[in-house]
Amino acid sequence: MTWSFIQMSDIHIGVKNEIKFQPSWVENFFTAIEQIKQLEIQPDFLIVTGDMTRDGKSKPNELENVKRIFKTLDWPVYFIPGNHDVGNRYRDDKSNVINQNNLDSYRKIMGDDKFLFEHKGIQFVGFNSFLFSSNLEKDESQQWDWLEEQANNSTQSKLWFMHSIPFIDSPEEVEPKIDTAEWYYTIGKNSAQRLVSILKKGNVNSLSNGHVHIHTKRNYENIDFINCPSSAFITEGNNLEGKRFLGFLEWQIDGETAKQIPHKLSKISELEGIGFNPGVPISSLN
Ligand SMILES: [Fe+2]
Ligand SMILES: [Fe+2]
Repeated sequence: MTWSFIQMSDIHIGVKNEIKFQPSWVENFFTAIEQIKQLEIQPDFLIVTGDMTRDGKSKPNELENVKRIFKTLDWPVYFIPGNHDVGNRYRDDKSNVINQNNLDSYRKIMGDDKFLFEHKGIQFVGFNSFLFSSNLEKDESQQWDWLEEQANNSTQSKLWFMHSIPFIDSPEEVEPKIDTAEWYYTIGKNSAQRLVSILKKGNVNSLSNGHVHIHTKRNYENIDFINCPSSAFITEGNNLEGKRFLGFLEWQIDGETAKQIPHKLSKISELEGIGFNPGVPISSLN
């Protein structure tokens, strides 16, 4: 019998009266929730692949607000952090990067920065992509060990999730220059290669991400690499290929087969908000 779960990403819920609060992004999130409530197959749970907040890394009340909102919903929910929740990927000048304080604060509020559970014979693993090549050596090496362990598990089907995309075209590509879109969205060549070798060894079916605010699905060496759209806003200034719309993914599972059904928001908020989507009619977005 077909069952489902929902993947949402980059919901970017802020808190009123904070400088960066964008009312349209909050309204868009609740539009998505109303659409989920109307789905024919009600989901067993939700997975949110990061960027739950506008600026949760420096405003813990934004993370607390997210937790509070999801507690009012009827579905279990599993979170993993995005750069807005814990800080960006590591760079030597340490500006805006993940650090121990942000990570500890996230874990204190959200419970953990990874998840692991089995549901109807499928292994679900979510983890923190900002620990890769970070300066948080202990946390990073613990996470690598933990991923190896989950890959070695004998579960037949494995669906894994993280916020960043692992690479643009392949793990063999040249290391992108710092501050380019390619650098910002990926995890670095060494980490990408190591992660893909773990995915292959573990026969992981798919790795699904957010961060890029577009929807893509591609296959590399028999692993599906999927990108979940944002419900909040569409990013400008990157040339990455994919479908640009606001919404979420419904994952329908039938036995061993998983398919992702993209859902566009039925209405885009006309409230105040940056990004080129708010106020733009949905018909103009492809
Ligand atoms: Fe985002
Ligand atoms: Fe992000």
